[in-house]
Amino acid sequence: MVQATPFLLVLSLALVAPSFSARKCVLTGHWINDLGSNMTIKALNGKGEFAGSYHTAVTATTNEIQVSPLQGSQHHTNEKSQSTFGFTVNWSFSDAITVFTGQCFVNKEGKEVLKTMWLLRSYVDMIKDDWKATRVGTNTFHRIHPQK
Ligand code: BTN
Repeated sequence: MVQATPFLLVLSLALVAPSFSARKCVLTGHWINDLGSNMTIKALNGKGEFAGSYHTAVTATTNEIQVSPLQGSQHHTNEKSQSTFGFTVNWSFSDAITVFTGQCFVNKEGKEVLKTMWLLRSYVDMIKDDWKATRVGTNTFHRIHPQK
């Protein structure tokens, strides 16, 4: 009976301890940003590379918006719980490309948040218009269907 007490103590610590550790921010899943754009990131491969789809809520063009493919990679570290990443969206309905770079955070409410900056390169016919071809901005993404 006396030996059972330390065992039960270790067992209860082992069961409770995981809830104290920092939650990992995971890129895979469904996300929505502050503009109302939706993004799905598929499972990462062994090198941290991923593919997915992006449904933007806004466009700099007059074209009809279509869901567009994205490709990216997460920094190759397993230890970090809040990894850096980048991805490119090759727009299906315009001649533009957007590159996003950011970091996957767990905020103080325990929710995953992607803080990103982007560069949107639009097509221009002439080199003299190059100066106006690139827009810059930020987007914050929240998970739509939080993982349990
Ligand atoms: C285009 O207008 O040529 C393509 C769509 C660009 C949408 C931009 S990308 C950065 C910003 N964040 C979004 O979710 N949508 C806009």
